[in-house]
Amino acid sequence: MVIEKKIQQAAEHIRQNGLVIFPTETVYGIGANAYSDLACQEIFKIKNRPMINPLIVHVATFSQAYEIGYFSEEAKTLVERLWPGPISVVVKLKDKNISKYVTSGLETIAIRMPCHDIAQKLITEANLPIAAPSANPSNYISATSYEHVFNDFTDKNIIILEGDDSKIGIESTIVDLSIPGEFSILRPGFIQAEDIIKISQLKEGGLKNDIVKAPGMLKKHYSPKAKLYMNMQEGQPNDIAIEFGELTIIGPSKKFNLSISANLNEAAANLYKIMRQADLYAKKTKGNILVTNIPNEGIGFAINDKITRASSDN
Ligand code: TXA
Ligand code: MG
Repeated sequence: MVIEKKIQQAAEHIRQNGLVIFPTETVYGIGANAYSDLACQEIFKIKNRPMINPLIVHVATFSQAYEIGYFSEEAKTLVERLWPGPISVVVKLKDKNISKYVTSGLETIAIRMPCHDIAQKLITEANLPIAAPSANPSNYISATSYEHVFNDFTDKNIIILEGDDSKIGIESTIVDLSIPGEFSILRPGFIQAEDIIKISQLKEGGLKNDIVKAPGMLKKHYSPKAKLYMNMQEGQPNDIAIEFGELTIIGPSKKFNLSISANLNEAAANLYKIMRQADLYAKKTKGNILVTNIPNEGIGFAINDKITRASSDN
């Protein structure tokens, strides 16, 4: 079926309170009508997601965003510079008809306008805000390709829209804008504090990058089934190495490289795909996954945040 037709069908499915998996530039999302308790509850069930972990609402236009949340003039300036794009903003909830399952009962809401043709067309056709967490079982590695979601979700009632591999490859930056004049990064990503400072009058507030505090952001996250260790330089033959540029790991016979040219953007785009492949190998060899040291600069900070959580036991 041509993609346009499939998007129309998927939009109708959303309106009927069904679930749709769709590609975005960050990771694939699993979406539902943000006004429907039933549909949003279904997301939590399918993902086995704790109810305290609120969802991000995806919009296609600025007016849609401004109807859902209260945006200060500064907040408007910021999103109008960065949307559509890989950033979600947390603002005070305005539209009380949004399902309480989206916000986990909070007075704030996370909103994002994705920069992906299929995602935008789906939201526009559905003519509704779409609540969508990442399309992966809760705590498992996020999905950045059609193949990943196809393998993880076999439920016939879910429509999957096939797109290209996610270009950015890690989740959107989440910025709290609920305090006037301030911004705080709740989850690091492609867009960083320096970018926000450059284009807005907002001052960086209380919550700093290193105390990621979005509700539901449990320490253990993005986790493979195998044990994962970070900042490694050597291991055993049955271990699986994840290297970066010339930062190699001595010992393991199976090796992946996040970016041979040591490009951090490329490493982010490859991260989840390689973690999933490494996990498959580790299952066969009964080894561990060993990740080399990744420079903690630019998007490397977000990559390290993901790897730290992937290596956490709890
Ligand atoms: O890139 C992305 O953001 C992807 C794609 C699909 O858009 N979505 C995504 O959703 O990563 P998810 O569910 O995996 O992460 C949503 C996170 C929650 O874990 C929570 O920490 C934060 O968003 N969040 C949602 N609502 C919030 C709120 N009102 N206040 C603070 N954090 C919130
Ligand atoms: Mg997620």
